[in-house]
Amino acid sequence: MTDEDTPTDIYADGGTAEGADSVAIDPWGSSTIGDYGDLFSEFGIESFEDVLADVPYPHYLMRRGVIFGHREYDRVAAAMANDDPFAALSGFMPTGDPHIGHKLVFDELIWHQQRGGDVYGLIADLEAHSARGISWPEIDEHARNYLLSLLALGFDPDEGTLYRQSTNRDVQDLGFELGSRANFSEFEAIYGFDGETSVSHMQSVVTQMADILYPQLADEPKPTVIPVGPDQDPHVRFARDLAVRMRYFKVTEAFASFEADDAERVLLGDAYDSLSSETAPDADGHTAADEPVRCEDAAQWLSMADIDPEFEPARRSAIGKLESAGKEPLRPRVRFFHRHGPEAAFEAMIGAIDGEKRVYEGHIDSFDLDLGAAEELAREVELDHGGFGFMQPSSIYHRFMSGLTGGKMSSSIPASHISLLDDPEDGYDKVKAASTGGRQTAAEQRELGGEPDKCPVYELYAYLLAADDDEFATRVYEECAGGDRLCGDCKEQAAQLMKEFLADHHEKREEAAELLSELDIDLDLDRRGPGGAH
Ligand code: TRP
Ligand code: SF4
Repeated sequence: MTDEDTPTDIYADGGTAEGADSVAIDPWGSSTIGDYGDLFSEFGIESFEDVLADVPYPHYLMRRGVIFGHREYDRVAAAMANDDPFAALSGFMPTGDPHIGHKLVFDELIWHQQRGGDVYGLIADLEAHSARGISWPEIDEHARNYLLSLLALGFDPDEGTLYRQSTNRDVQDLGFELGSRANFSEFEAIYGFDGETSVSHMQSVVTQMADILYPQLADEPKPTVIPVGPDQDPHVRFARDLAVRMRYFKVTEAFASFEADDAERVLLGDAYDSLSSETAPDADGHTAADEPVRCEDAAQWLSMADIDPEFEPARRSAIGKLESAGKEPLRPRVRFFHRHGPEAAFEAMIGAIDGEKRVYEGHIDSFDLDLGAAEELAREVELDHGGFGFMQPSSIYHRFMSGLTGGKMSSSIPASHISLLDDPEDGYDKVKAASTGGRQTAAEQRELGGEPDKCPVYELYAYLLAADDDEFATRVYEECAGGDRLCGDCKEQAAQLMKEFLADHHEKREEAAELLSELDIDLDLDRRGPGGAH
């Protein structure tokens, strides 16, 4: 649930969100996000602003803050800047017509493709059938419409990949493998699934996990961005988890033979740094240079160190471990845990580590490798022994557009959104009828200015109509806020631009039809079945 005060939101499948209160974001619920700020503080989505400066020639949706959040997009931006391989993938549920909200994602995919990425667009037909109960003939029709718009907006099918979930054997196989590392209690915790949830719906989740990791099957594991709305974040988090869980080796820093968790490791690092830099001779006249730092000394240091209260439990457990290790020297190292995968992979890992190393039951300590090199080595060995070597996928999140009639933009309320299939004249009329951030009277508007931040029409300019022209978008904003722009004329201009956009888009869709017919994607599936919404 995203909207705390409407706890019985009706789902598209006719069910209600009851019993799902422990699920904070529901990908199949209503796609309103109450407060974008909560996404940062509660879910660990990072602010896009922080990474913007690292993106070469950012897209206007990035520049204007429409893309507001990300997970580890820095990795993708770096690959882009260094001309290293990277990928982008997103998926569309063919439940209705593509609309201007979907255009944001189409544009994001196309932009990444133009930046040299390996880009994928997929039709989530299994999800539409299982989670929304859409029939196969309808799915075929909607799928065609999504693909035509994506192509019309500039997706290059020779450079990228388009597929539908149901016919992609590799995705199905990958989903099956990923499913072996996921269990039902996670589905309950992440999605609020329960005993009534259909197995096909669960299968569609595993399929989406496979979609997200699919680009990394081609050539090699690579940074991959998933552009989506924030409602899809639970899927992204789950896929990031699974990517880690599939790995053969877990590579961490370590300081002694015993195991430590992340918090303990921080403290061990502090103890080591502090004690090893002490050059003053101790009671016996020894200095750090000729005496190793012993675990028991580190325990002593730690018991007196001034630490963040947050680390208090870790301090206690770390001291316990250090005391039991006694005289063992504390020495930084990189540790390779063998989590799964064939024994031969472990043997190969031992052989691949250069320099001083120590082999234990189930793990290897290396004293000469740094963490980055160790991670790379672990991935190589895994790939050589039948593993996937996945990197964690990254994501970017865009704001949802407001409905033209106020409230949220919803596929089920035609006046609230503009479909990419709308007749240009209808598009014109919908914009003219839209609500605005304007004042009661023209005089008041001249005096106080309008409120572009609350205006769906301004959003149309910023998200779509001004396209790459920042100067234009800014001018609309400033003229509105300054009282120099009145809603009548402003809407007339926007409506006109919308009409032109739609007319042009329809022409391009017609051209794209030929392109689509040449692609190896079956839009006339002879499938049977009722689907089922749960
Ligand atoms: N679940 C997405 C939606 O509701 C569609 C989807 C399927 C998807 N697979 C994906 C999105 C992979 C991003 C990445 O629209
Ligand atoms: Fe919205 Fe334009 Fe009116 Fe400003 S002038 S409130 S941008 S319609």
